[in-house]
Amino acid sequence: MSAAAAVAILAGSPGAASPSPGAADVGDPYIKGAGNGGYDVAHYDVALAYAGVKTGAVEATVTVTAAATQDLSAFDLDFRGPEVTAVSVDGRPARHGRAGQELVVTPSEPIRAGRTFQTTVRYAGRPQPVRNGTFGTYGWTPSKDGAVVASEPDGASTWLPVNDHPGDKATYAFHITVPKGLRAVANGRPGPVRPGGATTTYEWAEGAPMASYLATVAIGRFEVRRTEVDGVPVVTAVDPAFRASAKRLESTTARMLRWAAPIFGPYPFATAGGIVDDPKLGYALETQERPLYGGFAPDEGFIVHEMAHQWFGNSVGLARWQDIWLNEGFATYAEWLWRERTGRDSAEKIFKRYHAQPGGSPIFRPPPGAPGAGKMFGFSVYIRGAMALHALRKRVGDKAFFAVLRAWTAEHRHSTATTPQFVALAERVSGQRLTALFQAWLYAETKPRIR
Ligand code: TRP
Ligand code: ZN
Repeated sequence: MSAAAAVAILAGSPGAASPSPGAADVGDPYIKGAGNGGYDVAHYDVALAYAGVKTGAVEATVTVTAAATQDLSAFDLDFRGPEVTAVSVDGRPARHGRAGQELVVTPSEPIRAGRTFQTTVRYAGRPQPVRNGTFGTYGWTPSKDGAVVASEPDGASTWLPVNDHPGDKATYAFHITVPKGLRAVANGRPGPVRPGGATTTYEWAEGAPMASYLATVAIGRFEVRRTEVDGVPVVTAVDPAFRASAKRLESTTARMLRWAAPIFGPYPFATAGGIVDDPKLGYALETQERPLYGGFAPDEGFIVHEMAHQWFGNSVGLARWQDIWLNEGFATYAEWLWRERTGRDSAEKIFKRYHAQPGGSPIFRPPPGAPGAGKMFGFSVYIRGAMALHALRKRVGDKAFFAVLRAWTAEHRHSTATTPQFVALAERVSGQRLTALFQAWLYAETKPRIR
């Protein structure tokens, strides 16, 4: 649920005399086609049965609970998954058609603005990842013994009918049925394990609002470990090929949680953990409550980065993809702070080392506050984004800087926010004018000077 959507519900939809179709996307210029207009999702219930590696097939029933933000004659869900076999709205069969990544649903009668309605989509077949020149291969991805999902930025539609934009967070329930001998691990809190005949059903529940790109499931063989940090259950699942890293993943995740709470504010979720699975993705994703490490044993830096995203990116989420530095710059700066905590290195030293590089380097270009869609995950978003935070810290001092971080995670907890909101908050908490500083670090084409 977004604030804008809440306002839209209260206001009704001015001027819309008769029900009309919801928009086919939310108009985010960075990812065309992503998200939809006319409704706001509160919850996804995902019942999915996976047949095994031989076929790679799934059979799924997903129920989307949403509130209409206009009188709707029809609406879209984003869906690039396999064949849709049935769609119903509030229990009544609904007409449906596919147009590119859009699943167009026409309910038997219009839905009034403000009403909560349930859409159930059944589908079956073999999901495929998105293969895209800009962002690589992502979404539902087959593994040696199952499949795993890493969807940033718009891959959730490879396996779910979804409002695929981070501006519309929702809670999720997962009921994942797998052949006996395999496991399913997902976001959030584990529920009961239900043995069937030849299958086992694993339940997971994400009770905090979550962006769709952070939804994950990992199916396969895993070594699962459980511990607890300050009352937060920590559940890790490691593919047997990476067994040797299982203990380190658990202990580093736990140490990071203890270290971060006083700095960033209380950990925002009910559980924590991590997943190491075999596809050689070569990257990690901060999947909510349980980051995914794709095909490698993560070192401390990776774990600290993905865990930092739980505060920066997951709890405080993006309202628009342009602000991606709010995720990646902050998570990178968390790595610098982690190195600083030992006293052997310092954020200042790391900052200076980077700053010595030439202005034409990809760590400086494009400017991280408006990187363009093609460079959303480029070096400058991570490195110059982190440098922007360090420049802020140098300007306002440690006391105000860490107060800014904690105010940010407190005020936008479980919601979304934008760069202008961060600048305004930093000015308010520090009592200083900071527009020029952020202009130089986030938006200027040229490498910022330092004193
Ligand atoms: N957000 C990830 C990180 O830095 C990186 C990433 C970008 C990613 N695009 C992705 C991961 C697609 C998985 C899939 O931690
Ligand atoms: Zn990251």
